[in-house]
Amino acid sequence: SNLDTLYRQVIMDHYKNPRNRGELEGETLHVNMNNPTCGDRIQLQLKVEDEKIVEAKFVGEGCSISLSSASMMTEAVKGRTVEEALDMADIFSSMMQGQDYDDEKYDLGDIEALQGVTKFPARIKCATLAWKAMEKGFHDTDSE
Ligand code: FES
Ligand code: FES
Repeated sequence: SNLDTLYRQVIMDHYKNPRNRGELEGETLHVNMNNPTCGDRIQLQLKVEDEKIVEAKFVGEGCSISLSSASMMTEAVKGRTVEEALDMADIFSSMMQGQDYDDEKYDLGDIEALQGVTKFPARIKCATLAWKAMEKGFHDTDSE
């Protein structure tokens, strides 16, 4: 369908022109996350000041879905508070499980293109890799 074509175009755009790919100077948090089903891994680097994510970058190797998702995710959480970013991760998780999700609370932008992935269950882990990294990073911080 046309919708699928749009999804593919958005995903390929982020894959070919990833936003926020590279090393972040002065990160306050970095976290590694791998997809056990394929071994691909990314490292997410965040700079958090006063509970706000002021910078977000990533490095690593992965497929088009995982890297485009990391690109979209880093774009989406920049400027958000940690609480908002984790809330967005919950919304994304609902989207990936094919559940109804709140598409008005935040400007999800390109992220919604990844809805198409839910038709391919094996690829859902690819799409969630970057979000899981963020959740792991903040979970570890909270417990310290
Ligand atoms: Fe490895 Fe997608 S195939 S992250
Ligand atoms: Fe969560 Fe240790 S990382 S309890």
